[in-house]
Amino acid sequence: MSKTHKIAVIAGDGTGPEVIKEGLKVLGAVSKIANFKYTLKEFSYGAGRYLETKEVLSDAELQGLKGFDAIYLGAVGDPRVKPGILEQGLLLKLRFGLHQYINLRPIKLYPGVDTPLKNKGPEDIDFVVVRENNEGLYVGEGEFIKKGTKDEVALQVSRNTRKGVERCIRYAFEFTRKRNRRKKLLLCGKTNVLTYAWDLWQRTFNEVAKEYPDISTDYAHVDAICMWMVKNPEWFDVIVTDNMFGDIITDLGAMIQGGMGIAAGGNINPEGVSMFEPIGGSAPKYTGKNVINPLAAICALAMLLEQLGEEKAAQMVENSVMYVTANKLKSLSARKMGYSTTEVGDLVVENLK
Ligand code: IPM
Ligand code: MN
Repeated sequence: MSKTHKIAVIAGDGTGPEVIKEGLKVLGAVSKIANFKYTLKEFSYGAGRYLETKEVLSDAELQGLKGFDAIYLGAVGDPRVKPGILEQGLLLKLRFGLHQYINLRPIKLYPGVDTPLKNKGPEDIDFVVVRENNEGLYVGEGEFIKKGTKDEVALQVSRNTRKGVERCIRYAFEFTRKRNRRKKLLLCGKTNVLTYAWDLWQRTFNEVAKEYPDISTDYAHVDAICMWMVKNPEWFDVIVTDNMFGDIITDLGAMIQGGMGIAAGGNINPEGVSMFEPIGGSAPKYTGKNVINPLAAICALAMLLEQLGEEKAAQMVENSVMYVTANKLKSLSARKMGYSTTEVGDLVVENLK
């Protein structure tokens, strides 16, 4: 008997519940075809609960999530809650508390999807960003000096540890090898200005590279990478970078792959529980209208399945998404798909094979 996967579901805020519902519909269908078993447990963490109870995510609740095989997350953020509370108290607490030290973000243009880049197609836009997910500017360290005065100074620390940097870089090399495309790993940094942090990253990268003679390596500054992502996205295979640069370049990446309607990511703890999410956010203005694109959440589900070892199911879901983008949807944008949220979920189910 194969294993029953225990999946925790945090549908979250805004359009999160609507897109997760479609993802779970696809999960139900693909589990029958690929023949695997799973259980779901839903958690109501998010804005609604916070507004009622003032609780975002307790330490005990965080610990409780360690008992699952994967977490499926919808979206975090609500206009009724001050920015930062849910993002830090829920999303970042999960990423840090569960030691999900990799944020894996594929940038892949599917057939039939419009990219704003002129003369570029699916063969040109297909790379993956490995974003460090537990350190850098996201550690929340800093201070105000003379707050509220004319001499005020605000410090925001970027913490980069040898161990944290090395495990991320090592993961990126392993991933590049396993992906087995062009076997090119590019370090994205800013060695010319951030001379402490990127000295550590570059030294670590060069040392670890010696263990992977089959992978060719390169380095580029983050600003140049932004330029090339627009001009020559076909140059990239795998990019590894820190938390902040990874945050920024993956929004640019999402745009060239067709927008937030399709962009998915995984928060990976290779030794623990990983969490998968559409990266687009809670889209409050589309909430409850059945117009948001669920494909990003469905792509996140495919990543979740792959992490659980259900590679065949993951591939079926991705293939179906590609069929739907190539043959059905008019656009990937909310309201313009030519179908409702639930109809897009149905299309993916109907085309699983
Ligand atoms: C993302 C988001 C988050 C981040 C926010 C919501 C904290 O932008 O997943 O990229 O900055 O990591
Ligand atoms: Mn972001």
